[in-house]
Amino acid sequence: MDKIIKDRFKGEKLRFLVTGVAGFVGTNLTLRLLELGQSVTGIDNFITGRISNIEHINAFARENNKDADFKFIRGDLTDLETCKNVTEGIDYVFHEAAIASVPWSLKEPELFHSNNDTAFFHILNASRLSGVKRFIYASSSAVYGSNLNMPSVEENTGDPLSIYGAAKFADEIYAKAFFNSFGFESIGLRYFNIYGGFQDPYSAYAAVIPTWIKKILQNESFAVNGDGTTTRDFCYIDDVAALNLLAVMYTGEKKAAVYNAGSGKSVSLNELIGVLKDFFGSDIKYTYGPFRDGDIRFSESDITKAKAELGFNPRFSLNEGLRLSLDYYTGLFKK
Ligand SMILES: NC(=O)c1ccc[n+]([C@@H]2O[C@H](COP(=O)([O-])OP(=O)(O)OC[C@H]3O[C@@H](n4cnc5c(N)ncnc54)[C@H](O)[C@@H]3O)[C@@H](O)[C@H]2O)c1
Repeated sequence: MDKIIKDRFKGEKLRFLVTGVAGFVGTNLTLRLLELGQSVTGIDNFITGRISNIEHINAFARENNKDADFKFIRGDLTDLETCKNVTEGIDYVFHEAAIASVPWSLKEPELFHSNNDTAFFHILNASRLSGVKRFIYASSSAVYGSNLNMPSVEENTGDPLSIYGAAKFADEIYAKAFFNSFGFESIGLRYFNIYGGFQDPYSAYAAVIPTWIKKILQNESFAVNGDGTTTRDFCYIDDVAALNLLAVMYTGEKKAAVYNAGSGKSVSLNELIGVLKDFFGSDIKYTYGPFRDGDIRFSESDITKAKAELGFNPRFSLNEGLRLSLDYYTGLFKK
């Protein structure tokens, strides 16, 4: 972890709430906070999260930094009272809870409205009422939707192409309105394609990297949506966790801001296959199929704003990030 982050949190114990703590980003962020000796309350309803992640966090909290503490609450953020209770006494909220899938959002729009919008509104409002200092939340590159200009710059969003994209867009608008109406500060991080340990490889809606790695480790063929020219901006989870911590450290003017959270580089799926071949050999099996509804074809973040205002400095190359991810998945599938 960056020295600048370690130094900032040394000797000060703050109270954090991590929503979606049993999920991929929530678990990793919580582990970083515990390493820093912080106090963390985590909440999850397990709609996609995993109990094994909570067990891992509990074990980590017991065995590592003795100053840290972790409390888990099973609860649903669509319930306002739950949101009020869980934000009481909290300094900073990291809102990671949502259902994170474009294709799923096209199948069950109501479910997405409730978990990605109603839940967002309640936890945002409860955070304000509880006097939380800053609300840091996961937005998505899906807000760029129909805007095909690359790289994506924060001001130039497009029309959302999916219910998931619309929900994230609405979240940002609420966050801005809460600042304009009540002066409640927030930082939204528009995640691009994050990858790394604890990302679920099992779900039918799993992200591309865990899905493909699982297939390769099980000696099965994986399917490429489209002809492999689709590009994605893959960002390793430790860089994203660091950016969240930098969002806490921000001391500039009060605002409701949004920042791109990516690597600043785009990689085609064919290039990703090339890197995987470096690890697994050129005989890995895969097939090309149709493009997937609602998916954007090209994706690349411009991270100038996050670098300038938050001091973001992504450190992990795709090669390095994939090597670390493979350590995790190899261990997972050996169990
Ligand atoms: N992983 C990515 O590449 C990516 C990209 C863009 C945006 N995001 C956003 O980042 C956030 C974290 O994503 P992730 O990859 O960790 O997803 P994840 O599915 O691994 O984690 C999300 C967690 O939120 C929980 N949750 C959902 N609805 C809830 C509710 N109503 N109450 C309580 N808990 C609830 C789930 O059970 C799950 O544990 C999400 O907001 C997602 O939309 C992720």
